[in-house]
Amino acid sequence: MTDQELVQKAIEMQKFSYVPYSQFPVGAALMCEDGRVFTGCNVENAAYGSTICAERTALLKAVSEGCQEGWTAIAIAGTGTDYCWPCGACRQMLYEFAPNLRVLAARADGSFVERKLSQLLPNGFGPQALK
Ligand code: THU
Repeated sequence: MTDQELVQKAIEMQKFSYVPYSQFPVGAALMCEDGRVFTGCNVENAAYGSTICAERTALLKAVSEGCQEGWTAIAIAGTGTDYCWPCGACRQMLYEFAPNLRVLAARADGSFVERKLSQLLPNGFGPQALK
């Protein structure tokens, strides 16, 4: 799958977002080296802090389906005019499994920019720190 196709999958996931509080649907698509793609959307909650972001939905789907390694890229799409970058909590959770992940931050029109997760979370705290 190309990066542009991964971004398109993220955009398509926005239709499943549950966003009665923010009205800001976000979609994500996480690609693995074996070709699998795990998708996610944000799911909000009346207890606002219980909301889960699209990226973490995709991450949890990957891990809970036995895919913990070989993540190559994640695409994230919001509806704003600006690129949709992952929040701090999502950066931290992604760093646990894939510090060198490519992050594709997309706009509603499908354009995107790429950064390494290690650029978005420099000097991140990960599992190696506990060894
Ligand atoms: N959100 C995501 O799903 N991913 C991000 O990277 C940024 C924020 C969600 C959380 C909440 O449902 C809404 O966007 C507004 O913050």
